[in-house]
Amino acid sequence: MKIIAYGMRDDEMPYLEQWSKDNNIEVKAVKELLDENTVDLANGYDGAVVYQQKPYTAEVLDKLASFGIKSLSLRNVGVDNIDADAIKRDGIKVTNVPAYSPNAIAELTATQLMRLIRRTNTFDRKIANGDLRWAPDIADELDQMTVGVIATGRIGRKAINIYRGFGAKIVAYDIYHNPELEKEGIYVDTLDELYAKADVISLHSPATKENEHMLDNEAFSKMKDGVYILNPARGALIDTDALIRALDSGKVGAAALDVYEDEVGIFNTDFGSFDAIPDERLKNLLKRENVLVTPHIAFYTKTAAKNMTQFALTSNVNLISKGTDESEVKF
Ligand code: COI
Repeated sequence: MKIIAYGMRDDEMPYLEQWSKDNNIEVKAVKELLDENTVDLANGYDGAVVYQQKPYTAEVLDKLASFGIKSLSLRNVGVDNIDADAIKRDGIKVTNVPAYSPNAIAELTATQLMRLIRRTNTFDRKIANGDLRWAPDIADELDQMTVGVIATGRIGRKAINIYRGFGAKIVAYDIYHNPELEKEGIYVDTLDELYAKADVISLHSPATKENEHMLDNEAFSKMKDGVYILNPARGALIDTDALIRALDSGKVGAAALDVYEDEVGIFNTDFGSFDAIPDERLKNLLKRENVLVTPHIAFYTKTAAKNMTQFALTSNVNLISKGTDESEVKF
């Protein structure tokens, strides 16, 4: 059995090499992403392990299938960049890694919330200028606040545990109710109810056609004044223009964004200087003291890199040898 792994980063390589040695399976690692220019590299392999944010197009998927590759294993969780029609037509089976480290995402989200609440960005900037005064930057306390968690999958639930550790009250919204949380009575029936109750909104939903721009002008208008918005999930969940308007008006008091709707090709790139970042809207957000933007780093921990690499390789072997895996994604 031979597997090709695309888009391999240096920090993932030790985990790939260890897995290959432990399982005695040959894995060809390439740095290139899987696209029209690199798909030919997969010819002759039994399966492909991939991670990228750029689209997996019909052309690329058709080509993989024509090489007899019907086993595609993502090292990440999101499947929104895959051409689902082509996957079905070509009979390609796909796995993802649904839980490489829910903790990694939840920890960064909570860290950023605490930074916002305690105004650390503002104090860092003041201190750098020799201004050691307190006022006017008085903080809130999470212990006194209600956090509205949208989507209570593994990451949402981890985040709830951390927020509770700080004493926050939780309300949650999800189409699927987790039985444990259901017993605790934290679910509200509608997003509007959550918007009305929450001082903080923490997004943990995947991106779908239905929830694109779920936080838009109308949604923001239903929220409390000065609400904190946290998005470590998917950029498409927020209408960025509406967020900027809501920040300008003070409707949104502060935001922490680890994702951005136009991030592909921008995040994880060194532009050499702030001015050279080729996205004015993003720069608008980055300049604000009450907005913390990070370039999709919530997942970027050693635990996650190991799990993403090794779980995906194991799933790929299962797809190749058994035709199925517990992490198979249904399209
Ligand atoms: C995902 O797992 O889908 C993520 O968003 C993290 C990715 C940048 C590796």
